[in-house]
Amino acid sequence: MKVLVVGSGGREHALAWKIQQSPLVDRVYVAPGNPGTELVAENVPIAVDDLEGLVKFAVDEQIDLTVVGPEAPLCAGIVDLFRERGRLCFGPDKAAAELEGSKAFARKICTDHRIPGPQWWAYENLAMARAFLESRPDGPIVVKASGLAAGKGVAVCKDNDEARAAVAECFDGRFGDAGSVVLFEECLAGPEVSLITITDGETIVPLEPARDHKPVGEGDTGPNTGGMGVITPVPLMPRVAAQVESQVVFPTVHAMNREGRRYRGFLYAGLMLTANGPKVLEYNCRMGDPETQPLLMRLKSDIVPLLLATAEGKLETVEAPVWDPRVAVCVVACSGGYPGAYKSGVPIFGLEKLDLGDDLQVFHAGTKRSAQGDLQTAGGRVLAVTALGEDAEKARERAYAAIAHVEFDGAHYRRDIGTAR
Ligand code: AMP
Ligand code: GLY
Repeated sequence: MKVLVVGSGGREHALAWKIQQSPLVDRVYVAPGNPGTELVAENVPIAVDDLEGLVKFAVDEQIDLTVVGPEAPLCAGIVDLFRERGRLCFGPDKAAAELEGSKAFARKICTDHRIPGPQWWAYENLAMARAFLESRPDGPIVVKASGLAAGKGVAVCKDNDEARAAVAECFDGRFGDAGSVVLFEECLAGPEVSLITITDGETIVPLEPARDHKPVGEGDTGPNTGGMGVITPVPLMPRVAAQVESQVVFPTVHAMNREGRRYRGFLYAGLMLTANGPKVLEYNCRMGDPETQPLLMRLKSDIVPLLLATAEGKLETVEAPVWDPRVAVCVVACSGGYPGAYKSGVPIFGLEKLDLGDDLQVFHAGTKRSAQGDLQTAGGRVLAVTALGEDAEKARERAYAAIAHVEFDGAHYRRDIGTAR
């Protein structure tokens, strides 16, 4: 069969790398892909927001399965469009992807279906949002742009003054349409964990627990990023996994069914483990990046039957995934200045020194080729160096030994990924 992966980051490189190992698959295309996906698949120059271009390619090439990495095309309705044109596409349709596309919608689902989350309030204009802040005692509060803001639309504010500034930014159009509804949330405290499951709306298969490290600096300091590195499995999780599944994941899938929005695809629940149990911080309608990279290195069984059966709504027919019991650690090498402004087009050296294989992979995120064919940076997160080891220490050693060979001007990465916290 022929498979098309939509996206151009480290997550999509890992997906293409795993999918092309399947005996069911003859050809893998990635749109638009990057220099990493080119090593394992064929890149086609169609942008992720060119839904018409993507579906035309899928029809013309008779693509059997399309797998969508990022949230934007899912929220824009790529799965619905493919369905109309008779092509199978993995991921939630537009109505179901609203769980990520509208934080206000996600909050309403939680409240209406008794899924634990913070208290929340949503406002559509500045005057009402200001009036709300006047009416509450001063203190910590979280302000969020309701729509998609590439992970940047959340401000955890220590008092009402900070909240007023965050609200003004949202309504000033900093996040475009995403900020036209502003959400206030009770400020929760506790360790954060994520649980990603794959579901067709009936059968629910949790993936292995993984922990992302979002702040740019060691010891979780500095501004938030898209994710600086991941360890999987997470020692803390087995004790809370059952609670998260029964109190959050199962009720969410059932709630979406009751709302007439059957959910098919990856469902990513970002949670805070509070003194009163796990509470939902956010939902994503896709796999995490960089969670995908170490998770797929630990997935021993074929991913394609899982993706196919989910898209076809018959996940119960597929055997449960088999996981490598070893630990995977993924460390992301970033451009100088990220998550602030950074340069692109910086030459990258050293990748050829690495002995890639079953226990070491380098997934490309923000890379490109120069006109001469040399590898250069092309984004904030550049490369995700991912290693397996018998335990966390061995996986860390292997990942850090490898990343030490990768050089580009300004490169930085966290040195504490996967250390116990
Ligand atoms: P989100 O993109 O909604 O996951 O938010 C990004 C980060 O903001 C989370 O990883 C949390 O660290 C923090 N955050 C979000 N919502 C809350 C909340 N209600 N209380 C405390 N922290 C939060
Ligand atoms: N790594 C966090 C995310 O993909 O949302």
